[in-house]
Parts: sequence; structure tokens; C-alpha cells
Amino acid sequence: MVSNRKRSIIMPPQPFVAAAHINDPMVYQQDAVDFWAARAAELSWTTPPKQTLSGEMPNCTWFSGGTLNASYNCLDRHLKTHRKNKAAIIFEGEHGDTRVYTYKDLHREVCRFANVLKQMGANRSEYITIFMPMIPDTVIAMLACARLGVPHNVIFGGFSAQALLERINDAGSKILITCDGAYRKGRIFPVIENVNQALESENTIETVIIVDRIKGEPPLVYGRDHLYRSLRSNVAFDCPPVDVKAEDPLFLLYVSGPDGAPKGVLHSTGGYLTGVGATHKYVFDIEEDDVYWCTADVGWISGHSYGVYGPLLNGATIFMYEGAPDYPDKTRCWKLIENHGITIMYTTPTLIRSFIKWGEEFPQKHDLSSLRLLGSVGEPISSDSWLWFYDVVGKGLCPIVDTWWQTETGMIMLTTLPAVSPMKPGSTGKPFPGTMLEIFDEKGKTVTEGQGVLTITQPWPSMPLGLLHDDGGLYEKTYWKRWKNRTAYYTGDGARIDKDGYIWVGGRIDDVLNISGHRLGISEVENCLTKHEAVAEAACVGIPHDIKGQVLVAFIVLKDGYFATRSLIETLRSLVAEKIGAIAQISEVIFTAELPKTQTGKTVRRLLQAVAEGKDDVGDLSILANPGALDSLRQFLPRSL
Ligand code: PRX
Repeated sequence: MVSNRKRSIIMPPQPFVAAAHINDPMVYQQDAVDFWAARAAELSWTTPPKQTLSGEMPNCTWFSGGTLNASYNCLDRHLKTHRKNKAAIIFEGEHGDTRVYTYKDLHREVCRFANVLKQMGANRSEYITIFMPMIPDTVIAMLACARLGVPHNVIFGGFSAQALLERINDAGSKILITCDGAYRKGRIFPVIENVNQALESENTIETVIIVDRIKGEPPLVYGRDHLYRSLRSNVAFDCPPVDVKAEDPLFLLYVSGPDGAPKGVLHSTGGYLTGVGATHKYVFDIEEDDVYWCTADVGWISGHSYGVYGPLLNGATIFMYEGAPDYPDKTRCWKLIENHGITIMYTTPTLIRSFIKWGEEFPQKHDLSSLRLLGSVGEPISSDSWLWFYDVVGKGLCPIVDTWWQTETGMIMLTTLPAVSPMKPGSTGKPFPGTMLEIFDEKGKTVTEGQGVLTITQPWPSMPLGLLHDDGGLYEKTYWKRWKNRTAYYTGDGARIDKDGYIWVGGRIDDVLNISGHRLGISEVENCLTKHEAVAEAACVGIPHDIKGQVLVAFIVLKDGYFATRSLIETLRSLVAEKIGAIAQISEVIFTAELPKTQTGKTVRRLLQAVAEGKDDVGDLSILANPGALDSLRQFLPRSL
């Protein structure tokens, strides 16, 4: 075995390069606008765009004059080809139940769902909220919205009732699509109970459509709740797709921002589909017989772009799995790959770290020879994890694409192209063809080699349309006004560029945490903690964790008359989990008499971070108005994090 230190550059495996349909480095040389015009031409437009790109960043318009329908592009156009009877979705439930939808089947189910939505009064000026697990019906519901030109608002199924309610009301949704339950870790996950709990409070919902997953008999609220199975049997099998403008929204997706409140990011139809279709095809080198598995939940952007829209635009076969990766045991993922002949696996460093912890013996028990390409997304991957994935799962035969992007970018922005570029384990590679990302220093000057802030300096087709309810220019302020001298998109990530132009993303440099690949705004958690009557002040930091990437540590100053007790810690933990969901688990609560503050009263998180990580060197203390706070903090160092 070659030592890992010597494996800092890995060439794409020759058999892969020879068979790949994109292996020409000239793809990087094309003019960006021409490149995207050609990619857009691969979609089916009812009216072709008049102009590829107009306007200046951030107010760019892509494909103006063009009209199309997303569901038509994902389904109908394939029905005119050999793909009609090809599997669009192969699904396996946690209990091993399987379902296969051909493109024809999927088209029919989407049409029926769309007809139901029409009957229920779906309206193009509203957002339909979808709160569903990883089952094909979720994809069907999304495409049904798209068929009618109604933007969907998918909420991750693991969010708590409160988080769901907040997002429903912010979007002003009148229709909610959900299901009676889901299977997770051998138990029934109470989807409908969460919904009912959310809808006990004041809300905008008028209609709830409940899909059958667990053969449940949920109690129905008369006039509001409807079982989908009853509605489905009374509608036609066809539903004409509604033509929408390229810049009409396809969906809304909430993201945790640095300032606490979740923000609704709006994505377009024409630009988004162009970006996602092309990146999916090029980055994953999609071939006709691929069975492609994106392990991300459909409730996140990865699930939208590369779990649903990208693969369906390219007529690929999606593999979808409902349950936990270690249920009933740690061989589950490898069994899925073997049994379904999965050829491409796109997953997260968090899951890879769990695989490593569980041990090589599990993948080794299974025949993984169907795999030909591996992908990673969501957080930085260490070179050790990368090499483990490459050796143990890919057997040295599968290129790895480490793809950097965000909810806001909609599509992959940084990656290697699997049959074109050498791979550097731990690096996300270079900007995707037709895009431009640079590293800026604090003054907005481009760093050609070294450290700085990852920045996007040219328009890209799946740029967000903006944020929902943004009357005060929040979108521009948050993302586009970071540097006075240059208009460029601020990603919130720190990164390094090396002498070969490869980018190494370090992680968030704003007040956003990345826990198991999920974004969580620190102030969202802090706002929740300070709501408790005992809490005077709360400050949170994320510290490194072996599996999750980061975990949350909360520093709490109690009001007079309250005391630090075990039960208070538990109450605070569940308060946050109830408000946000299971991803917001507080790993450690540290009580302190005061928080370190600057003269202007701002909490110095850097110091809290150093303390939480148990560092002796906490850096410059001269900015502190209350240096004594440090001693108070140190008394409460966490035992084991
Ligand atoms: O910090 C970066 C990290 O995930 C953030 C975006 O999170 P979200 O909008 O939830 O989308 C995740 C899936 C696209 C980024 O700002 N991130 C994403 N991919 C990578 C990454 N960090 C390092 N390497 C990556 N490949």
C-alpha cells in the first residue's frame, strides 16, 4: 500500500476516463455565456429564451423570454424515447419493501397528484408545503407542484413541530402535503403527529393532504384533512403541464442564516434546471445504465438538486432509501449497493466518518463492484476519510467528486470533473465550467495562492431569485455587499487556493454551524435558549467532533435566583430540540457567571470557542471589557466532548 502522504494527487482511473462521455479539458475553455446557452438548449422549452444572460450581478436575469415546465422536462420528454419504460425511481423502504416507478409510471402518478392539487385549489401565487420522509410520494408531490407551476416548500421531515409551523406561516402556505408516518430505525416516525401538533397553533393551512405510508388511520379534521388514497382514485391520469417563465420560482427552501431566523431562498425554473441538469450530467458522468444514489434527504438542497431534479432531467435511474444507514445493522448501505447494482453513490463526510468508525469489515462483506463513481458534499472531507472512501468503497477504481455548493447556489460550483481532472484528497477542486469562484482577502483583493474567503465572481444560472419577504434588501446585504470595491457573492466559507488553482474549503467563517452536514444558525439556538425563564444570556459555539463534524456547546448565564441543575440542562436541551429539531442537539451546557464581552458589549465567541475546545492559548485579550470572565469560564470546562 502506498503511504497516504504520497497520495496527494490521484489521477482518474484509466478505465473510467476511457469510458466517460466527458473527458476533454477543453470544456473549461468555453465562454461562460455560450457554455450556459448550450446547456439550456438541452432542455425542452415551450418558448426558447431570447437572451441567455442580462443585467449586472446580483440583479441578473437568465434565459429571459423563455418558458418551460420543470415536470415536463423531468418526465414527459423522456416518454418519447426508450426511457419510457426505464426505471425512474427504485425505492427501498426500511423494512426491505421495494417499489419501482418507470418514467411512464412516475408521469402518471405526478399527473394524478397534480389533478388532486388542482381540485384542492392550488394557486400559482402560493407555496405548497411538503413535510414528508424519503419516499417516492415526496418526489411525486414536488413534481406535481412543478407541473402546475406552483412553487413547493419542502420542509425536512426531521424538523420539529415548531420549526414546521414557523416555516408554514412564513411561507403563508394554504396546502400542506404530508403522510401518516415513516419508518426510521425500526420504529414509526410520527410524521402526522408532528403536523397535528404544529397545526394546533395559529397557522395559514386550509387543506392537509395525507399520503399513506404506514397504512395508518390518522384522525382527520373535518373539512381540512384528506387522505390522498381517496382523492387519487377520483382524478384523471393526465394533466397538462403549465408553462412558466424561466425566472418564475420553482421552489422555496428555508435555510438557517447567521442572524437567527430561517430564510426562504427562492430558486428559479429555467436557470435552476439548466445549472442542475448540466452539473449532474458532467460531475456524475451520467450514463444511460447508471443507478444513482444520493443519500441526502429530499428536504435539503442536495435532495432537491441531485436527488430529484438533476437525475430526472438526465433521464437517470434514481435509487431512494427511506431509513437509517445502520438499520437493521451496519451492512445496510452496502447491501443496498449490492442488491440494486448502484453505480454512483453521492454522500456526506459525516456518513463516511460513521462508516469508518463502524469498520471496513462491513463494506468488505459485500460485492460493491457495480460502483463506478463516488461523491461527497456538505462539509470538508479530510484526506484520510477521502482515501478510506476511495480505497475501501471504491477499491481504487472509482473517482471521487468532492462537490462544494450551497442551498443558495442551487447547483455544484466547485468540484473536479471525474474524467478530466486529477484529484487531490480533501480539495474540492476548481470552479465548474462556466462559473468563476475566487478567494478574496478582507479587502476584496483576489488571492492567487493562499488563504481567504470563498467568493463567486461571475453570474451562474441557478443564482437565487432572492429571499422571501425581503423588502429591506436583506439578500443583497447578506450576500453581495461584503466588499465595498467589488460586487461578488459572499459564501460565508473560508478557503485556501493552492498553486494549481485547487480550492480547499475550510468551513464557515460566519455564525453558522455545520452539524452532520446540516446548517444551523447559532443565533437560532441562542434565541431559543434565552426564551427560558432561568436564562439571562446564552452564547453557543461549535467545536470539532469526530463523526458529526461539529457539535454545539452552549454557555449560559443564569438569572439571579436560578441554579445550575441537571434537570435544567435537560430542559434547555429539549427546548432547543423541540424548537428546531433533532439536528440541534446541544452536546454540552456550560454555566458561567459572565460571558466575555468587548467594550461595546459584543460577546467574544472566539474566546468561548477556545475555552470549549480546551485550548490554553486563547489569543488576544486586550479587547475584553471583562477579562475576569475567562476565569469564570475555565472553572466549568467540559469534561469530555
Ligand atoms: O460550509 C459549506 C458546506 O456547506 C455549506 C452549505 O450548506 P447547505 O446550504 O446546507 O448545503 C449543503 C449541501 C450543498 C457551505 O457553505 N459545504 C458544502 N459542500 C462542501 C462544504 N464544505 C466543504 N466541502 C464541501 N464539499
